[in-house]
Amino acid sequence: MISFERAAQVLLPGEDRLEFLRSDRAGELTLDPGGLTVDQGVIVALEPSPSSVSGVRVDASGCALVPGFVDCHTHLPFAGWRAREYELKVTGVPYEEIARAGGGIASSARALREAPDADVLAQGRQLAAEMLRAGTTTFECKSGYGLSREGELRALALAAQLGDEVGQTTSRTALLAHAVPDGYTPDSWIDEVVAVAPEALGYASAIDIFVESFAFGVEHLERVGALASAAGVALRAHVEQFSTMRSVPVGVACGARSLDHLSRIHPDDVALFGRSQCAAVLLPGAEFMGAEACAPARPLIDAGAIVALATDANPGTSPIFSLPLIIGLGVRRYGLSAREALLAVTLNAAWVLGVSGQLGSIEVGKRGDLVLLDAPVEHLAYRLGHNPVAATFIAGRPVYVRPDAAWRIERG
Ligand code: NIG
Ligand code: FE
Repeated sequence: MISFERAAQVLLPGEDRLEFLRSDRAGELTLDPGGLTVDQGVIVALEPSPSSVSGVRVDASGCALVPGFVDCHTHLPFAGWRAREYELKVTGVPYEEIARAGGGIASSARALREAPDADVLAQGRQLAAEMLRAGTTTFECKSGYGLSREGELRALALAAQLGDEVGQTTSRTALLAHAVPDGYTPDSWIDEVVAVAPEALGYASAIDIFVESFAFGVEHLERVGALASAAGVALRAHVEQFSTMRSVPVGVACGARSLDHLSRIHPDDVALFGRSQCAAVLLPGAEFMGAEACAPARPLIDAGAIVALATDANPGTSPIFSLPLIIGLGVRRYGLSAREALLAVTLNAAWVLGVSGQLGSIEVGKRGDLVLLDAPVEHLAYRLGHNPVAATFIAGRPVYVRPDAAWRIERG
């Protein structure tokens, strides 16, 4: 039993058993003072346990208690970094040119191929620990740096192993169409994707594709969409990142669970999100690091979209693993309220990963994945670069406690 007491703010959903909440309703989330009790991993009451009951007590005075953050778009596992490329990019070489010259995704594919499993897993564990310190209790893993049949299967197997080795809940997405491998055309590589899918999707709950002028086209999105429906996995897609490909009508028609990036979405396609259950996953870290266009978050919210925010953590476009930093960037660049941003990294992100039945909000019956912030939630965005996470709990267990916050946790 663990009892959280005297929090200045507790983020509650306003209504229980929502699978997601359209972001124009984020104002319904409440942030009143309170406490809660977790027993055997599950939230059992939205009040502290009586003082007669023994167990762990958390002094949350002056703190905000929010659901564990869900990072619904990362590219873990990968090998090494691409810092030199970042220097090229900021000094004026476009991403597309770096990619066409064998850098970008292809260089991370080489690094992954050359790295022993143990090194890839060690890097992944270290990054997962960093994410825990920033409040992430659930994250997505993607393949995509395999760029061959064997490479993609290995990446998915490594993702599964990483999931077993870290404290967080993880999910796996088979990003089988990330870049066109040498020796293939986009068409012939999608033929390979179709062939490897039965095996690859045994490891994954979603399939993903990068639709872009220098990667795959909307016709390939349709093929991958058909594959997803036939296999009963979710369709995700990287779309409208660098160019306007009009992928959104196609992705929505294919029943995509999410369409991600959207920096260059056509204005006529925004309203489609208000009429479907396909989430708009916005990635302000990639936009900021790549000086990309800014996704039209406010029009998406006004249209009634299910908006999620994620890190896009990867060695190229977004080497960022902190959702507090992503919240700060999203709030500033998109003009989001604190509630809109929090909804986007909790319940709506959990919807994207298909886990919102158990995770993503503070309600009785859900797992006790919680973040204790020793500041009001508004500070997440306002004190950009500061990490207010005092402690992170998974299933009611403190899995990270910042040393200067240790006094708050009293083991009874
Ligand atoms: O989400 N856009 C494609 N994929 C990644 C970038 C991967 C990379 O550059 O390594 C993204 O931004
Ligand atoms: Fe991505």
